[in-house]
Amino acid sequence: MLDRLDRLRVLDRLDRELPLRFLRAFRRIVPVGAVQLVAAFDAVTPVPKLAPEQPMPGSFARQTTIFPGPGARLASIERDRIGMTTREAANEAAPESNAPVRLRDDSPLLNGYLSYLESNSTPFITPGHKGRANMLDADLGAVLAGDVPLYGGVDTVKSAGGLLAEAERRSARWYGADWCRYSTGGSTHCNQALCLAIGQPGDKVVVTRSLHRSLLLGMVLADLEPCWLPTAIDTATGMPLGVAVEDVEATLAANPDARAVLITEPDYLGTLSDVGRIIEIARRRDVPVIVDQAWGAHFGHHPQLPAHAMSLGADAMVTSIHKLLPGYTQASLVCARTQRFDRDRLERGFEASHTTSSAGSVLASIDACRALMEARGPELVEPVLLALKSARQRLREEVPGLEVPDEQSFMAGRFDPMRLVVLLSQVGANGVEIEHMLLDQGLPLELVDRDTIVAIVTIADDEGTLDKLVGALVPAIHATSGPSRSPTVPVSWHVQPVKAMSPRAAFFSSHESVAADLAVGRISAELIAPYPPGIPVLAPGELVTERLLADLRAVAADGVRVAYAADPTLSTIEVVRT
Ligand SMILES: Cc1ncc(COP(=O)(O)O)c(C=O)c1O
Repeated sequence: MLDRLDRLRVLDRLDRELPLRFLRAFRRIVPVGAVQLVAAFDAVTPVPKLAPEQPMPGSFARQTTIFPGPGARLASIERDRIGMTTREAANEAAPESNAPVRLRDDSPLLNGYLSYLESNSTPFITPGHKGRANMLDADLGAVLAGDVPLYGGVDTVKSAGGLLAEAERRSARWYGADWCRYSTGGSTHCNQALCLAIGQPGDKVVVTRSLHRSLLLGMVLADLEPCWLPTAIDTATGMPLGVAVEDVEATLAANPDARAVLITEPDYLGTLSDVGRIIEIARRRDVPVIVDQAWGAHFGHHPQLPAHAMSLGADAMVTSIHKLLPGYTQASLVCARTQRFDRDRLERGFEASHTTSSAGSVLASIDACRALMEARGPELVEPVLLALKSARQRLREEVPGLEVPDEQSFMAGRFDPMRLVVLLSQVGANGVEIEHMLLDQGLPLELVDRDTIVAIVTIADDEGTLDKLVGALVPAIHATSGPSRSPTVPVSWHVQPVKAMSPRAAFFSSHESVAADLAVGRISAELIAPYPPGIPVLAPGELVTERLLADLRAVAADGVRVAYAADPTLSTIEVVRT
């Protein structure tokens, strides 16, 4: 039996090793070990208070029903084999009123996934690796070890268990939505699915210009006409501040036939618009608000984090579970309230563009993240926020003059404190050079340009990982610093598009490649976006201007990747044939 100190040690270790444990369980590197690990984790997972009948969106309510997957019988044998330890630890780990439950008991897809791994199936269905690729080649086997399909793996081929639908219902309940789908196609797919559900071809939408390319291409697919909203900029720091409420109001007034408002919250730097007020304004006109919250899957899980968009009244929301939560790459979720959406259209839009062979492992990770965060969100976020506070403090102390914004630097709820943003212009340092130095030390960063560094921090980080980052950042900043300069606002935040054709018409037009200088004044047939942040600086249907070309060339000269352009050197541009 575990004594109290042992339990604390186990808890602490589990907290630190969460991604590793997930990885092991998912990859089946040591199958029995994975089961034991999950059992140990389950044993110390505390139960939150009982769910009220109708929990508020984003509340910590839960329901615990065990969902037998195809391998449930074998799973129970396996559990019995290790049952003593599990049960004893479970009984010991918490008082009766707060009895521990296992993550998989509140996670039908995780349970189905683990049950399959624990079973001894000899499948005569896809995928072709049959879970036996290691017999063909060890390296190939390592890559495929955790791959389990949804149909015929996590659930039966005929989806007899209804596991996916139940998992999606649980996420819908967390978000206060009445429709929710899990995607293996990332927020890219979810954004496009929503675009297909908005209206009719040719309909207008009011949309932030700082949108991800996936949303723009969703508008191409659905033939939506954008009425652009400019991005507000903080002149002191050059940071984007979302879209201004006044701009939303004015654009809706000028386009009373607009079918939706689409905003991206937060942006790459962690800042947000006043989402609540934007929703209020759109509501007065009965226009639905769709929020691309790809970067906010952790929102609502701690009082110091911004509220998630659905709790602010959004009609639909997209989030990438894989970005800010410990989910498999490509794991995303889309949810909606259906008062202002046609449920069938949402469903058809989603299915039209989703794979018919979903990776069960990806879907199980979405469900598991939901269960984990519902049970332990605040407890897991809290130490990371504290570690971030110390990291910011240390950066400010060790590099005098360095700007490291935190939530105090912005209006309440308008900045995600999990984003570590470092502004370099005051100390004259060069972000692109710093990135190279950090890469050499095995420390890749999410977004870097000359003046800005953005590190993504999640609940899988801790004091140790942040110390390592700060320890490498400080000397790198000192090594590249020089005279202070004014911050330059990256072109992604101040695009002033000149529209000449609908994005869809330009996308499908006959086009030609011309020398970039000769493209000035012509209509672009392609989408060009410095990456990150992946915001289209030039979109299909917009005029190529001299200013835009100069801005794009400057970005490229600064070492930022110019993505999606047919010619990334920018010597030529694809334009609509005249
Ligand atoms: C704002 C925004 N929306 C959507 C996406 C697409 O997300 P995914 O990579 O999950 O497809 C991204 C990707 O970076 C993004 O930044």
